[in-house]
Amino acid sequence: MGKKAVVTGWGKCVPPVALTNADLERLCETDNDWIVERTGIHSRRISHVEGTDLAELAGRRALASAGLEPEDLDLILVATCTPEILCPSVAAMIQERLGAVNAAAFDLNAACSGFVYSTANVTGMIESGFAERVLVIGVEKLHIAMDYRDRSTCILFGDGAGATVYEATDADAGVLSVDIGADGSKGHTMVVQAMGTKGDPYWGKPPEETRLYFEGQAVFKIAVQGIAASAARALERAGLTAEDVDLVIPHQANARIIDAAARRLDIESERVFMNIQDLGNTAAASIPMAISDAADAGRLKPGDVVLLTAFGGGITWGSIVMKWGDRVESVGVHEGELPATDATVWDLLESNLEFYAPLHEDQPPVRR
Ligand code: UT7
Repeated sequence: MGKKAVVTGWGKCVPPVALTNADLERLCETDNDWIVERTGIHSRRISHVEGTDLAELAGRRALASAGLEPEDLDLILVATCTPEILCPSVAAMIQERLGAVNAAAFDLNAACSGFVYSTANVTGMIESGFAERVLVIGVEKLHIAMDYRDRSTCILFGDGAGATVYEATDADAGVLSVDIGADGSKGHTMVVQAMGTKGDPYWGKPPEETRLYFEGQAVFKIAVQGIAASAARALERAGLTAEDVDLVIPHQANARIIDAAARRLDIESERVFMNIQDLGNTAAASIPMAISDAADAGRLKPGDVVLLTAFGGGITWGSIVMKWGDRVESVGVHEGELPATDATVWDLLESNLEFYAPLHEDQPPVRR
C-alpha cells in the first residue's frame, strides 16, 4: 500500500477585535435575532494586522502541534482569496518568515473551497512521493471586501487563519478520497472585482469593484445541493456511507446551509462540527480553524472517519474523506501571540466606512 496524507498538527489564529451583531445593528438595518436565526452567527473578527501575520502565527502553532521544525517542510501551501499583495505569494512570505528553507511555496485561490482544494493537491503530492511534510494554511482578511452598510453580505464574513500539517504515512490513516469540482458558469453569483488587502486597499478603486457582491439565495441553494452531492461522491469513492462518518467538519458558511446539507446526507447534528457562532464565515480559513477547534475540544479520536466539505466562489466545491491518525493531542505549543492592540472595532472599520459611504447617502448615518 502506498503512502497516505495524514493530519499530524493543527493550529489557528483568531484576531482579538470582535464585530458583534449589536455593532452591526448600528451599521445597517438588521437585528441580532434575524442574524442568529438565519445564519447562526453572533460575532466575527476584524483583524488589526495583515492576513500574512495571522497565517504565520497559525502556521507556527500547527508546526509546534506536529512537533516539526520549519526546515522539515517540503511545501507550504496557502489557501486564500484575500492575499496581502499578489506577488510574492503569502506562502512565499511565510516560507521566509519561518525559515522553511527546504519548502516550495505557493498560494491557491478556490475561495471558500480553498482548504479542500489544497488538501486535494497535498494528497496527490504526498501519494506520488513528491512531498512528505506539508503545511497548509487557510487565511482571509475578508473585512476589506465588506460594505458594512449592505446588510445582505456584511453580516456573514470575518477574518482569521487556520493551519494543518499533513505528513506521509504508511499507517492505516489519512486521506481516503477526494472530490473537487467547479462550475464557472455560476461565477457571477459571488464576485469581488478588485483586491489586494495591504495598506489602504481602497486607494484608486471604485467602491463597486472592491466590495463583495453575491446573490445570497442563489448561493444558498447551490451550496446545499453542491455540498451534499460532493460529500456523497467522496464517500462513495472511499467505499463508505454517511453512517460511517464520525465527524463532519464543513466550511462554516451559514448554520442553516450546514444543517440542510447534513439533513440531505442523513447525518444528525451531533456528528457535525460548528464554530461559526463566534467566527462567522472565514472562507478558506474556516475548515482548518474548525479542525483545530475540534481537535483541541477532544472531538477527534484515533481512526475516526472525518468528512471535510466546502463550496465557494467560482463556483467551486470539494469534499475529503479521511481517517484520523493516532495523534489526538498536540506534541508542543507555540507561545507567540499577535501584537497587542488598543484599537476598537470602529477604529479598524473607519477607512472602510468612509470608502463605501458614497453608495449609501440615502441611509441614516452610522451610530458608533
Ligand atoms: O461561503 C460562501 C459565501 N456565501 C454564502 O455563504 C451566502 C449564502 N447565503 C446565505 O447565507 C443567505 O442567503 C443569507 C444569510 C445571505 C440571507 O438569508 P436568506 O434567508 O436567504 O434571506 P433572504 O435574502 O431571502 O432575505 C429575506 C428577508 C428579505 O426581506 P423581504 O424581502 O422578505 O422583506 C431581506 O431583505 O430578509 C431581509 N434581510 C435582512 N433583514 C435583516 C436580508 N438581510 C437582512 C439582514 N437583516 N442582515
